[in-house]
Amino acid sequence: METSTMKMKIEKAKTSKIHEVDFDNLAFGTVFTDHMLICKFKNGAWEQPEIVPYQPITLDPSAKIFHYGQSIFEGMKGYKDANDDIWLFRPMDNCKRLNISAKRMAIPELPEAYFIDGLKELIRLDKDWIPKKQGSSLYIRPFIFASGNGFHASPADEYTFVIACAPSGAYFSGKVKVLIEENYSRSANGGVGYAKAGGNYAGQFYPTQLAIDKGYNQVIWTDDNTHEYIEEAGSMNIFVRINDTLITAPTSDRILDGITRKSILEIAKDEGIHTEVRKITVTEVVEAAKSGTLKEMFGAGTAAVISPIVTFGYRNEDYDLPEIQDGYATRLKKRITDIQYNRSEDKFGWRLKVS
Ligand code: COI
Repeated sequence: METSTMKMKIEKAKTSKIHEVDFDNLAFGTVFTDHMLICKFKNGAWEQPEIVPYQPITLDPSAKIFHYGQSIFEGMKGYKDANDDIWLFRPMDNCKRLNISAKRMAIPELPEAYFIDGLKELIRLDKDWIPKKQGSSLYIRPFIFASGNGFHASPADEYTFVIACAPSGAYFSGKVKVLIEENYSRSANGGVGYAKAGGNYAGQFYPTQLAIDKGYNQVIWTDDNTHEYIEEAGSMNIFVRINDTLITAPTSDRILDGITRKSILEIAKDEGIHTEVRKITVTEVVEAAKSGTLKEMFGAGTAAVISPIVTFGYRNEDYDLPEIQDGYATRLKKRITDIQYNRSEDKFGWRLKVS
């Protein structure tokens, strides 16, 4: 056992699995680093986090996560630059959002220092796992789940916070074709759509599979009330470019306050791109596609960064997006990833060095 600067217990793995990993052919989130952080909430308080070898977690069959889905997560990435320096992107924003999700899901909020210092300690220990290949990074998954027991449908009395990391390549490969969804809903007014709650994602699997069966990759979520407003793209926020204006839906209790989304808005303004944060109707997107003013559509999220959409389907009709050289998606992706990988100046102060 070693002690970190924040007096964190660290139990190192006896052997490393790193030599088993093909870093040139990484999928997304399928291999995991040697260590993980674990921290328990018991008797009304969070205990000190510990770093232990990556391992299975044993739970009682009555643990409330299994029955009531009381669980939340975050998605973030660690990047290595040309000098092997390590960077995180806006980690405080992930920490804040985790606690916003925690509140909504009746999970006790986690002290910021446990999240940030624990994360830095874990990344330092597993730094050799951060890929250097262009387009690859260390995907970091902080999550909290109800590990307390009992069938009573009420919040658990014990919780577990874990950070696990997966060296990862691109989230999507190939062209993304989406279907505008009019029957199923991802979220509703007063619901949990803005929280990164596990169930928000599970609820998408079935409608997404129906779309996949029809030849699409993802669903474009519309509002639950009228299905007339475009809200999210699969597990990402959505951007639409009509003529030279870049538009995204406003965040609400139905829409996730994406860190990539808000970074893109700031970078776009800095690039001199006219942006609008407002409701986007399906009708306006279909009309724009018909008249040729719809130039680009893309999803934005941590895992996929920016994922250009090539076709959208609506009411049995497919609409192809034009092939644009050096479009907004390409320009904005370059700007954001240059900041993330320390290839450019960070004028917004978003990077955090892990040293
Ligand atoms: C992310 O973009 O990091 C997400 O949280 C989406 C996830 C479902 C892969």
